[in-house]
Amino acid sequence: METSFFKENNLSEAAKLIQAGELVAFPTETVYGLGADALNEEAVKKVYSAKGRPSDNPLIVHIASREELESLVAEIPAIAEPLIKKFWPGPLTLIFKVKPGVFSTSVTAGLESVAIRMPDNSLTLKLIQLAERPLVGPSANTSGRPSPTSAEHVYHDLEGKIAGIIDGGATGIGLESTVLDLTSPENPLILRPGAITQQNLKEVLGKDVTYDHHLIGKEEAPKAPGMKYTHYAPEEPVILVKGTDYNLWRKAITHYLKQGETIGILANEEIISKVKSEVEDVFSLGLKANVNEASYSLYAGLRFFEKTKVTLILAEAYEINDNTRAYMNRLEKSAGGKYF
Ligand code: TXA
Ligand code: MG
Repeated sequence: METSFFKENNLSEAAKLIQAGELVAFPTETVYGLGADALNEEAVKKVYSAKGRPSDNPLIVHIASREELESLVAEIPAIAEPLIKKFWPGPLTLIFKVKPGVFSTSVTAGLESVAIRMPDNSLTLKLIQLAERPLVGPSANTSGRPSPTSAEHVYHDLEGKIAGIIDGGATGIGLESTVLDLTSPENPLILRPGAITQQNLKEVLGKDVTYDHHLIGKEEAPKAPGMKYTHYAPEEPVILVKGTDYNLWRKAITHYLKQGETIGILANEEIISKVKSEVEDVFSLGLKANVNEASYSLYAGLRFFEKTKVTLILAEAYEINDNTRAYMNRLEKSAGGKYF
């Protein structure tokens, strides 16, 4: 299959492909999604095979208007209203009890709930309107790899396996949406951290919102099924180095050079400028330690080293707090939790 590129001027062609049950990747404010008609089971099954995604990992359904929600979910709890008002369109996925009979088990993985979000990207909102149906949209990468933050990343992973890619340039946030479970409305639960933080949610709801246990280090299986798999991993192993202490970076570099590794550094410019001459290659996460800039560049950086001779990536880790939690969640997964 040839994979075509679409832009604003030919979105209606992309919408026709969706209506015909084909796969079209779309840009969002977080990462690129792999779009298919959420109401067409055959199309949804193609998403799993194109990505190589385990079938017990449910998908997020993307909508373009608040009105579409009523027809998809069993009930909209009162707590959802201020969140929708404040954060949609935007990087907040909400989990509702699903309306029976609307989605195939391929969308929900057989759960009685469904994840819904309204992405903040004008091309994709238009695509959903033109296609006249909700779209499933897992990140448009091969399962297990870093999520795509550009059309080129999608093409690299899925060329020949999908009908099209809508090119909306680099995505603004760079990490996937916050996933908030509202199926027990009295106890909203963050299943995946993202750009909308625990504090942001608390401010809108006027009460505490908790993290799913495994996100704060407990051993049980996560409630978001996808969080248990290997994720965000490039071809080379990743090791985390915490902070900007030059001596620690020096020590790590010396240690892995002795082991015969060819080292790549994924860190901010201040670190890079000091250690550049000692390593094979570098990728900048921004001028200085800033977790938003680092989040924007993380996946592009992990993918960058695949085109180099590097055999090991040393990546900049932050102290975990409300603002750094999403970045650290993805980075720790890409490193399998390994720190120097
Ligand atoms: O920012 C995003 O959310 C991107 C863009 C493309 O919209 N999409 C994305 O989709 O990250 P995906 O499939 O890579 O991640 C969906 C996450 C998984 O961890 C999945 O387990 C969880 O949402 N999820 C989906 N439905 C769920 C449900 N009913 N209950 C619990 N978790 C669910
Ligand atoms: Mg993903």
